[in-house]
Amino acid sequence: VTTQTTGGERQPSHALELAAMRRAVALAARGAATVSPNPAVGCVVLDQHGETVGEGWHERAGGPHAEVVALDRAGGRARGGTAVVTLEPCAHTGRTGPCTDRLLAAGIARLVYAVADPDPVASGGAMRLRERGVTVDGGLLADQAEAVNKPWLTAVRRKRPFTVWKYAATLDGRVAAADGTSRWISGADARREVHAMRSTCDTVVVGVGTVLADDPHLTARGEDGELAGRQPTRVVVDTEGRTPPTARVLDGAAPTWVATAADVGRGRDGRADLTTLADRLYARGSRRVLLEGGPTLAAAYLRAGLIDRVVAYVAPTLLGAGPSALGDLGVATLDDAVRLEVRHVARVGSDVRIDADIVAQGGR
Ligand SMILES: NC(=O)c1ccc[n+]([C@@H]2O[C@H](COP(=O)([O-])OP(=O)(O)OC[C@H]3O[C@@H](n4cnc5c(N)ncnc54)[C@H](OP(=O)(O)O)[C@@H]3O)[C@@H](O)[C@H]2O)c1
Repeated sequence: VTTQTTGGERQPSHALELAAMRRAVALAARGAATVSPNPAVGCVVLDQHGETVGEGWHERAGGPHAEVVALDRAGGRARGGTAVVTLEPCAHTGRTGPCTDRLLAAGIARLVYAVADPDPVASGGAMRLRERGVTVDGGLLADQAEAVNKPWLTAVRRKRPFTVWKYAATLDGRVAAADGTSRWISGADARREVHAMRSTCDTVVVGVGTVLADDPHLTARGEDGELAGRQPTRVVVDTEGRTPPTARVLDGAAPTWVATAADVGRGRDGRADLTTLADRLYARGSRRVLLEGGPTLAAAYLRAGLIDRVVAYVAPTLLGAGPSALGDLGVATLDDAVRLEVRHVARVGSDVRIDADIVAQGGR
């Protein structure tokens, strides 16, 4: 399990550290819905006898890091103890000071982390602690810690936002009827989930076709229509700037960016360049994007290799006509199909939700 042992013999307290890491992963998950654009991180501090003396997780960007919360709880009992963290502690000064300094000041003797920090700005924490005489082990329960922090880790490794394409379709794969009506394909429970999903993201993206057809508001709202505390930035991909000035996305409820060719340039097809858009969003700090359609933009996103996960709400309805969920991908044979791996299937009210990750694209 341990991959970077520098401290000589494996500690006799390995079972305690394993249990602590399992707990730290569960703590990290508590921040998963609120923490973006920061990573979901959990931390458990053990005293020198292996007893838990502090726990923490990172809840939101700008708030204290998991290590700092756990160390504050532990107080003087952290001295000579072990910090068990799901992500390598940061060595840089962001909105809060470097966690490595806090760990050293608290007198931590040993650090166990799960996943190395891929962010070149913040990484180097493990090395810095080793240089100061702290025993450091990495890789413990790395798979579980990866899973809980997958959006952030994927975004930082690919240097573009982790992108989830969400749609609601009938059982025969239609996202609107022949007359263009589409709003109530999925039921109230599914719509409630979508609002919650929006508030976990930094950015919501639609094509101008969807704005013209449906005039969506794209905010995260509660049962009573009240705006949620966290609102993603709304982006309309609109090559020529056809978004009407009266569009609901242009109200002041959340920030909105109508991304035109003047902003992001044109791709080979002459339309707004989606890779440049992803670069711009990443540079502005976005780590999670929810792509909400429609079929033309979703196909272009897929062709550009910019989608990581699909969340499909399938309603027990048949239409037999109307646009299908996805436009032409240029795939002519089954070998070139985009392949996904189902992560989760759930009944949501009268609908079924399928969560799947993209594993292979265009025969790759
Ligand atoms: N049920 C659902 O989940 C759901 C969700 C969304 C939409 N819909 C339905 O889908 C229909 C609208 O579909 P749609 O395909 O017209 O809308 P869309 O995919 O939202 O928008 C397509 C438009 O986006 C613009 N665009 C900008 N850059 C692009 C690029 N690089 N590649 C491709 N397009 C780009 C293009 O217009 P420009 O070239 O002018 O920029 C294009 O015509 C409506 O009936 C709506 O109700 C259903």
